[in-house]
Amino acid sequence: MITIIGSGRVGATTAAFLMFFEVDNEIVLIDIIKNLPQGEALDLNHAAAILGKSVRYRGGSNDYKDMEGSDIVIVTAGLARKPGMTREELAGKNAEIVASIAEQIKKYAPNSIVIITTNPLDAMVYVLYKKLGFPRNRVIGFSGVLDSNRMAYYASLLIGIAPESIIPVVLGQHGENMYPVPEASFVYGKPLTEFITKEQYDEIVKKTIQAGADITNLRGGFSSNWGGPAAGLAMMVDSIKKDRKRIFEASVYLDGEYGVRDVFAEVPVVLGKNGVEKIIELNLNDEQRKKFLASVEAIRKNLTQVPPQFLS
Ligand code: 2OP
Repeated sequence: MITIIGSGRVGATTAAFLMFFEVDNEIVLIDIIKNLPQGEALDLNHAAAILGKSVRYRGGSNDYKDMEGSDIVIVTAGLARKPGMTREELAGKNAEIVASIAEQIKKYAPNSIVIITTNPLDAMVYVLYKKLGFPRNRVIGFSGVLDSNRMAYYASLLIGIAPESIIPVVLGQHGENMYPVPEASFVYGKPLTEFITKEQYDEIVKKTIQAGADITNLRGGFSSNWGGPAAGLAMMVDSIKKDRKRIFEASVYLDGEYGVRDVFAEVPVVLGKNGVEKIIELNLNDEQRKKFLASVEAIRKNLTQVPPQFLS
C-alpha cells in the first residue's frame, strides 16, 4: 500500500502516474482539506476503470490512521512557492507541517520508506529525518531526480539526443545554489562537454538552476510545479517497489560521504526494496569539491531558517 499525504497537484498527479507503473493496487490519498482526497480518489478510480488498470484509490478520511499498513509514504504537503518567492522562504511554516506529519507516520507506518517533496527540500527532509528517527535509508528527498532530468532535457535540446540517453549529474542543494555538473554527465560513455560549447555549458547550468522558478513564474501563481515532481516520484517508487536498483539522484543523509556529515544533499543513489541501498560517490576534483561544498553550505544556511525545535 502506498500513501500520498497532500492531495494538491503534486499528490494527485503522482497518484495518477503511479497507475501506469502498476506497482501496488492500493493507493491512499490523505489531506487536511475535508473531502478533497475522497474526490481525487473517486476521479482516479474512474480513470483506472477507463484505462483498465487494477489500481484502487482510497481517499483518507482526513485521518492519518488511513495510512496504516503502508510500505511507502509520499509527503507532498506544505505551502508551495508563489511567483517571485524562493523555496527557502517557506522554511518556518513548512517545518511545522512536516514535523507534525512525521509524528503520524511514526505512529501508523513505522516501517515505511518515506519520500518528501516539501520545500525548501533539503531542509524539510532533514526535519522529517530528525522527527521520524528512521534509519537514513528510509528517508528520501525526491528533488535530484527532477533537477538532473531537467538538465538532461535542456542538454538534449542543444545536442539533438534523447534526454534518457544522457546520464546527468546535479549535486548539492535543490535551490538557487544547486550544482549542475555537465562535465560529470555522460552521453553513452562520452562526456557531455564533448558535445557542447562553453556558451551551451553555461546555458544548461543556468536553465537547470532556474527551471523551477521559470515554471512558477510562467504559471503566475495559478499553480506550483507538479508534472516533473510527480514523474520523478513515480519513477523512484517504481524502482523501490520492484527492487529495480536503478540509480537516481536524491537528497539523502550524508554521513561522511563526499566529505560531509549530518546534512541532506543531492547525490546519485541506488533505490531498491530497502530504499537508499547505496550512495554513489563521484570522484570530484578539487574545484568540483569546492563547488559541492559551497552548495552544501547553502543547505546548512537554510537549516538556520528552521526553528530549532524542528531540528532535533
Ligand atoms: C521545482 O523545482 C517547485 O521545487 C519545485 O519545481
